[in-house]
Amino acid sequence: MTLKNKKILIIIGGGIAAYKSLDLIRMLKRNDVEIKTILTKSGREFVTPLSLTTLTQSKTFENIFDKDSEADIDHIALSRWADIIIVMPTTANLMSKLSVGAAEDLATTVLLAANKDILLVPAMNVRMWLHKATQKNFNILKDIGYLFIGPEKGEMACGEFGEGKMSSPRQILAYVKDYFNKRGILKNKNFKALVTTGPTREYLDPVRYISNESSGRQGYEVAIALDKLGIKTTVIAGPSNFNLPKSIKLKKIISADEMLSEVKKSLPVDLAVCVAAVADFKLEKKNKNKMKKSNLSFQSMNFIKNTDILEYLSKNNKCRPRVVAGFSAETESLNKNSIQKIKNKHCDFIFANDVSNKKIGFNSYYNKISVIYKNGSVQIIPKNKKSLIANKIAQILVDKLVDDRNIN
Ligand code: CTP
Repeated sequence: MTLKNKKILIIIGGGIAAYKSLDLIRMLKRNDVEIKTILTKSGREFVTPLSLTTLTQSKTFENIFDKDSEADIDHIALSRWADIIIVMPTTANLMSKLSVGAAEDLATTVLLAANKDILLVPAMNVRMWLHKATQKNFNILKDIGYLFIGPEKGEMACGEFGEGKMSSPRQILAYVKDYFNKRGILKNKNFKALVTTGPTREYLDPVRYISNESSGRQGYEVAIALDKLGIKTTVIAGPSNFNLPKSIKLKKIISADEMLSEVKKSLPVDLAVCVAAVADFKLEKKNKNKMKKSNLSFQSMNFIKNTDILEYLSKNNKCRPRVVAGFSAETESLNKNSIQKIKNKHCDFIFANDVSNKKIGFNSYYNKISVIYKNGSVQIIPKNKKSLIANKIAQILVDKLVDDRNIN
């Protein structure tokens, strides 16, 4: 992957690691990247505007109310110009300002006004990094959508050892290459995805139905995460109520049969993610009128199994999506039962969640996932907001999609 003609805005914060920005600039320049820089007031204590200008062959921006700079390129245009923004080193102070949306100097104003991805590269003393306030800001910033690389474990400039060391210019360069590589592949491939989500309802008569506790939130978040990666996504959702960006197509259904029929209509796709908690059984013959409790007999009701949509997709020889993933809702033996499910359903991944834990899973903002791979190995995605879990899931799926494409 070439970085030729990519445009990167580097914001240099005030920390001893700031001098490493010069190394990164040299490496990026060797890769034909166009670079502009913003030097914060405290960053100026560690590197000079002259060295930045010399290396980038472009003026370094410093002040928000600088007449000359604003005439040249204003602070909004700076972020519009860039393909990605890197903030290195990102200090504890800068993290704190960004977490509350401060816009008090050129750097914070540009970051607040940015419409591009922002990669934060933290560097600070280990105690500062592990401080509850910094960790809280870290979570807020991740939640907002800032990207992070590091900090790494190692010996710091202050002589202490631990987590807080800035990732090296080489690691940052590798991250940036990987970032553009994935985006480049995704942009040109026009990948399509379908996501099933929510509960389904199986009516017994016009007023009674069988369903489950699923809210649909996790599936909506997976769809949003895929959409953010540039994948054309269709959501097929049972009764649930969340907003989606306009770029995502939403098809609302009630029963498992309707979900299956919409899934079939949405094919072919490159990726299918079955997050829905589909009701497993339906009444063989639904009652046309409301059943009277005087003659309502559950023993005489004949239930039949719904088609397993995930299995249908995985085993669909003619039109199998390149990557098929399912979820698994369990109240016991989470990994063991989910490993069995991936075997039975022939999909590529199962994302398993323990729905007996009220703090995660059904109807919660949070989730914790065991990712089950085809070979039976298990990777844990620790408890986090469903939106962040969705980003991780989307990344795993896209990595698989991209890897498979590269092989073929
Ligand atoms: N699934 C599906 N169609 C069905 C039933 C399940 O597509 N008729 C999918 C779900 O969307 C999920 C996966 O299969 O991706 C596992 O669903 P889950 O409810 O955990 O398990 P079941 O297969 O229904 O099995 P059990 O209820 O015995 O755990």
